[in-house]
Amino acid sequence: MRFDILTLFPEMFRGPFEESIIRRAQDKGLISIGLHQIRAYALDKHHTVDDAPYGGGAGMVMKPEPLAACIEHARRCNPKALVVAACPTGERFSQRVAAELSEAAGLIILCGRYEGIDERVRKLLVDRSISIGDYVLSGGELAAMVMVDAVTRLLPGALGSEESARSDSFSDGLLEYPQYTRPPRFRDLAVPDVLLSGDHARIGQWRRREALRRTLAIRPDLLREADLSAADRHMLAE
Ligand code: ADE
Repeated sequence: MRFDILTLFPEMFRGPFEESIIRRAQDKGLISIGLHQIRAYALDKHHTVDDAPYGGGAGMVMKPEPLAACIEHARRCNPKALVVAACPTGERFSQRVAAELSEAAGLIILCGRYEGIDERVRKLLVDRSISIGDYVLSGGELAAMVMVDAVTRLLPGALGSEESARSDSFSDGLLEYPQYTRPPRFRDLAVPDVLLSGDHARIGQWRRREALRRTLAIRPDLLREADLSAADRHMLAE
């Protein structure tokens, strides 16, 4: 999958995309990432990319011409890509949205700054506006990194076999069960006996119960959408 990222701060991406799974996915040829400086598409000699909002009010708005020219250039590099704007007014990002984006032929991600982008660019050239959560960041760059990471993990071959087995367990819509590693006792806290028992059926039941318990305590909203068996519902009712 090809990602094209349109930003006023391309340098922000250099470190994060050179590590770990994203680095390996590029090395394996599963993904490629193009970074585009929106300012390079400004038409005037000062390379202006923002202007005051019509109707007044605080802050500045990203001007339509440089954004449109930059998106159209990225489209030529990535012709069938979906155009996503990262902004706090978009639909909420989730594992489901990541899975949908991972099916796209490519992604062009526009990182907004200031008070946002001129609405006509959104109308004419943006397919989906996406927010990574109900808080305001200084710009869409961190959100774009989150989306690239979550989407890349879903591409076949991006994770080693151990990692993909783990990600499967997320797709059931529950928070993950608690994890432990050695030593068996740490500062008076012991690892639950069942995990040392070698009885994989019991371990599976324990993990499912803990995942349900944790989800009920921390994110009960997830239970509405989760795929629950009769045994799960019985456990929750206890
Ligand atoms: N830009 C600023 N805040 C954002 C958010 N929460 N999600 C996506 N892009 C943003």
